[in-house]
Amino acid sequence: MGSFYLSTPIYYASGEPHLGHAYTTILADVLARYHRRAGDDVLFLTGTDDHGQKIQEVAEEQGLTPLELCDRMAERFQAAWDDLGISNDRFIRTTEPEHKAVVGALLERLYDNGFIYESEYVGWYSVGQERYFTEKEIGPDRVDPIAGGPVTKIREKNYFFKMSLFQDRLIEQIEKNPEWIVPATRRNEVLGFLNQPLEDLSISRPRSRIHWGIPIPWDPDQVTYVWVDALTNYVTASGAIDPEATKDRRGFGDPLPSRWPCDVHLMGKDIITTHAVYWPTLLMGANLALPRKILAHGWWVVGDTKMSKSLGNVVDPLALRDRFGTDAVRWYLMREMVTGQDASYTPERFLTRYDELRNIFGNLAHRTLSMIKRYRAGTVPAAPSGGLAVETAAAVAAYRRALDGYRLHEGFAAAMDLARAANGFVETQEPWALAREPEGADELDRTLATLARTLVVLACLFEPVMPARAAELGRRLGLANIPLFEELDGMDVSGRAVRVGTPLFPRVDLG
Ligand code: MSP
Repeated sequence: MGSFYLSTPIYYASGEPHLGHAYTTILADVLARYHRRAGDDVLFLTGTDDHGQKIQEVAEEQGLTPLELCDRMAERFQAAWDDLGISNDRFIRTTEPEHKAVVGALLERLYDNGFIYESEYVGWYSVGQERYFTEKEIGPDRVDPIAGGPVTKIREKNYFFKMSLFQDRLIEQIEKNPEWIVPATRRNEVLGFLNQPLEDLSISRPRSRIHWGIPIPWDPDQVTYVWVDALTNYVTASGAIDPEATKDRRGFGDPLPSRWPCDVHLMGKDIITTHAVYWPTLLMGANLALPRKILAHGWWVVGDTKMSKSLGNVVDPLALRDRFGTDAVRWYLMREMVTGQDASYTPERFLTRYDELRNIFGNLAHRTLSMIKRYRAGTVPAAPSGGLAVETAAAVAAYRRALDGYRLHEGFAAAMDLARAANGFVETQEPWALAREPEGADELDRTLATLARTLVVLACLFEPVMPARAAELGRRLGLANIPLFEELDGMDVSGRAVRVGTPLFPRVDLG
């Protein structure tokens, strides 16, 4: 039991929520639910990144003020997360007054610490990535090296953060803490980036060019660079900087009770540099602790179009929710992607993963509940468990090891293996044969009690990834709540009235 603070990136309010955003947010949701089940006091943060040139431009195109656009998009993101069963504790927006005050306070702190200076910037700016690139990075074609979008040459006054001063400290942090940036491929990528001299970071833009941002406290003709603004959201939500106390620059010396540092920042690999280089050095400059972990996951790539034939034109797994349900899509995304690596979405793999749910977990639940109804009038018999103890303990341990190590796919595979073992147990026990013999009654009681107990364990293990289906199974087992991990040991389900209901994962007609 402890506390656990985790974050997703805050998504640009300039575009609609899509699968990429959804994956990171579901990943965070699964971890948040897992930690709640482990008894932790969880703070799960997500939100929108409301400032910057791109938003200013998109709003203009749509004939809206930037804030109108952001309000609209924040609602869209919140609705999308409701639909996907996301249990965030806080939805932050960088246009909130508290956040603006914290950004100002953080900048003043860096300024007071002597890490900010004014200079002229000459470079290539990509609005798509909201960052500058070097001549070398944009290459002869002069395009942004990440998405291939346009870049513009800019010469202007900016404030700079002396990021270069922190290069050695950052390298040391990464080398001494091999698990700080995961997976290892991303860690090596960041170390590779740090092989070259680290440049100072431009942290402001002239207001004449970009008006949609947070003014620099000591120079309102400049607005804060959107990445500095955005990254600071993690501190705002933690309460580490009290904007009231910092107005007159008091309160810096006495840390307030807060949730900082964050236990894990989750993100896609596209934004590892900002999180693993800009952010930690800014925190160092402001004398704030570093986040405990930075996890960058891979990309979803869409499998070859030929394969989508079997499911019509469906190429986005989120669209499958209508037919298969939200939990099945969450299951697919978490079970299929090796956490950290790229994965290819194909309808065939989706169906394989759905069949696994239906034929193994769904089938176990249905046959267990049906047999309790048929042989014991719908009441879980009062009998000691008689089997599966070793398998259950091993599955729970493997699951917890895997989730603690951010290998979610492995944890859910272990849970599914337990369901598989329980189906095997049904086959060897042959409850239907026991039911025919009067002397089989005790063994039948033990068998059904064991299976009911295994279902409770499975509801607990699957809840983080399939919250709605797990809750439904819990209700059918007569439970008011799905137990926490610590409540599983020695849990007694005897005497509970169960309900069979329709299959948890019905057959889906693909016709
Ligand atoms: N606003 C910045 C983040 C600021 S955080 C302080 C931003 N926003 S974004 O809207 O572009 O979202 C980027 C994030 O969306 C990625 O880091 C990743 O989490 C997710 N994804 C976007 N496309 C994706 C895929 N195709 N696959 C997996 N995740 C991807 O960057």
